[in-house]
Amino acid sequence: MASNVLSPASPARLCSSRSGMFSFLPKSLSGTCRLAPRDMGKGMSIKCQATSIPADRVPDMGKRELMNLLLLGAISLPTAGMLLPYTYFFVPPGTGGTGGGTVAKDAIGNDVIAAEWLKSHGPGDRTLAQGLKGDPTYLVVEKDGTLATYGINAVCTHLGCVVPFNVAEKKFICPCHGSQYNDQGRVVRGPAPLSLALAHCDVDEGKVVFVPWIETDFRTGEDPWWA
Ligand code: FES
Repeated sequence: MASNVLSPASPARLCSSRSGMFSFLPKSLSGTCRLAPRDMGKGMSIKCQATSIPADRVPDMGKRELMNLLLLGAISLPTAGMLLPYTYFFVPPGTGGTGGGTVAKDAIGNDVIAAEWLKSHGPGDRTLAQGLKGDPTYLVVEKDGTLATYGINAVCTHLGCVVPFNVAEKKFICPCHGSQYNDQGRVVRGPAPLSLALAHCDVDEGKVVFVPWIETDFRTGEDPWWA
């Protein structure tokens, strides 16, 4: 037990309460002071009784930091657990393809493998596959037997019929109102007002992938009307 006497300037170091109880907290001492109501405002000294805290009961800095880390972890983990699903909600779903594209599907819904496709589709071939947004899209085999870097959307720009490829005429000829397109899908006879839409046709890990075409239409030199 120890006794401390505080000067009138010291109350700034004290915590007061309505009951007149004060806490005096020097580095290694703790205790309470009682100020009698009759002594209030007289500029008197305050007697405090303080007890010293054994040094081995004061947490060292290493323990404090460990406790802080544990507390931080206890707060962070549940918070992260709540935030991750919330953040995932705002991430747009993928298109089902690779790198923003869509893997082409054949007539029975299987992924189109470029090498397999070229084994059964020769030069000049135009055969339908399932393309972007499910649109029927022609895969084009060039004269040298390679897959063209573009696909042709088969939806007629007049009223939306699917346009077949006429091998003898080497044209796309719409059965609904007779519109015609050349073998690259450029309109050559109405009433269709526009050429067939294009899509990039890439090969990724062996699979044929359609990617939206937003560049200039190489057939007309104009901006793509479908983009
Ligand atoms: S829908 Fe093709 S010409 Fe009318």
